[in-house]
Amino acid sequence: MQGLAGRRVLLAVSGGIAAYKAADLVRRLRAEGAAVRVVMTARAQQFISATTLQALSGEAVRCEIFDSAAEQGMGHIELARWAEIILLAPATASTLARLAHGLADDLVSTLWLASPALKAVAPAMNQQMWRAAATQRNVQRLCEDGVLCWGPEAGEQACGDVGPGRMCEPQDLVQRMIAALNGGDLQGVNVLMTAGPTREAIDPVRYISNHSSGKMGYALAAAFAARGAQVTLISGPVALPPPAAVTTIAVVSAEEMLQAVLARVASCQLFVACAAVADYRARVVAERKLKKSERQESLWRLELEPTPDILATVAAQPLRPWVVGFAAETHDVENYALAKLQAKRLDMIACNDVSRTDIGFAADDNALVVLWQGGRRELARASKTQIAGQLVDTIVDVWRSDKR
Ligand code: PMT
Repeated sequence: MQGLAGRRVLLAVSGGIAAYKAADLVRRLRAEGAAVRVVMTARAQQFISATTLQALSGEAVRCEIFDSAAEQGMGHIELARWAEIILLAPATASTLARLAHGLADDLVSTLWLASPALKAVAPAMNQQMWRAAATQRNVQRLCEDGVLCWGPEAGEQACGDVGPGRMCEPQDLVQRMIAALNGGDLQGVNVLMTAGPTREAIDPVRYISNHSSGKMGYALAAAFAARGAQVTLISGPVALPPPAAVTTIAVVSAEEMLQAVLARVASCQLFVACAAVADYRARVVAERKLKKSERQESLWRLELEPTPDILATVAAQPLRPWVVGFAAETHDVENYALAKLQAKRLDMIACNDVSRTDIGFAADDNALVVLWQGGRRELARASKTQIAGQLVDTIVDVWRSDKR
């Protein structure tokens, strides 16, 4: 069956070397049954001709905001209303910046503002331009406005650099569009997650905990939900609003988190443990506040015992879901993560270098190395929202190809 039968797709092409892929993209969108109209920025025309895209789409290509011939047929406002989805591919740093700031100074940016359609961008640029703080801010802002960000991929670039910035392949963009327009490709998939820290009481006023803010886990839950998954998030104490379309259950301690997970694990296909569970708790929790004035000596010796390992418990279940863990390490990150992958019998692990202050605990950005049996993928530094999208892509790719 054609996944885009009868869908109205407006492809906006901006001026980067990846614009040549727009021809293949149009061809593939039409093969899936979509009606495709193309608009181009002035610079895009230096990379690919409007004639090529016109021949492939079977529709006039528009490049100017005021085009008297086109206005008699379908003016730019009609075009904005016609589209069900607008995909900007390739999305250059410059066009992303203009869209993030709501400029309307050419046809593409005007249509973007004027259209109520679902919107997606497929960034393509030099890796350093992609990593630049301004680009990351702009993409983050677009994501917050509800724009879907597909890619970029990492790899060798046209300029000779290696890193993130390659536009997703056209077949990948088409699959993502099918998923986005048809309500998500993870419909019917139950995902159980943990996020945030746990707090282990010492007495009624004190506890043991860590710096987890919940940002990474909440972004991950939102990314799964955006792809149509049914997500249940077991969350330690954080200061974040629950993600939209996610069932969020608040817990405090590792024991409560374990019980909440075990009560739901049987019905999930994917389990993702992003929580920073406190590894130790007080062996005896005092019922009343421990008073400094009542202590004999100045040293306070606290006897600790390990908390239950939630991730290992889930992975050891006889009928278990596909299990993804995280590893927060300050040194020798990948080796320790690999050891956890094997010792806890996980399907995948995401390693987080928490010695850095620009990523990891409480930061808005993250960077991960994802490991699984026979595989490794680096997710370069980006906002936690973007990293979450890329991690969900990675999890789903590997999970679906795992014949276990
Ligand atoms: O919340 P943020 O501020 O956004 O920060 C994100 C993060 C750094 C917390 C996150 O990206 C991360 O790395 N989470 C895992 C933190 C952690 O506890 O790592 P660990 O290496 O100690 O534990 C390994 C794995 O076992 C983790 O999946 C953890 O959830 C799990 N675990 C650990 C101990 C325990 N008792 N039960 C568990 O389930």
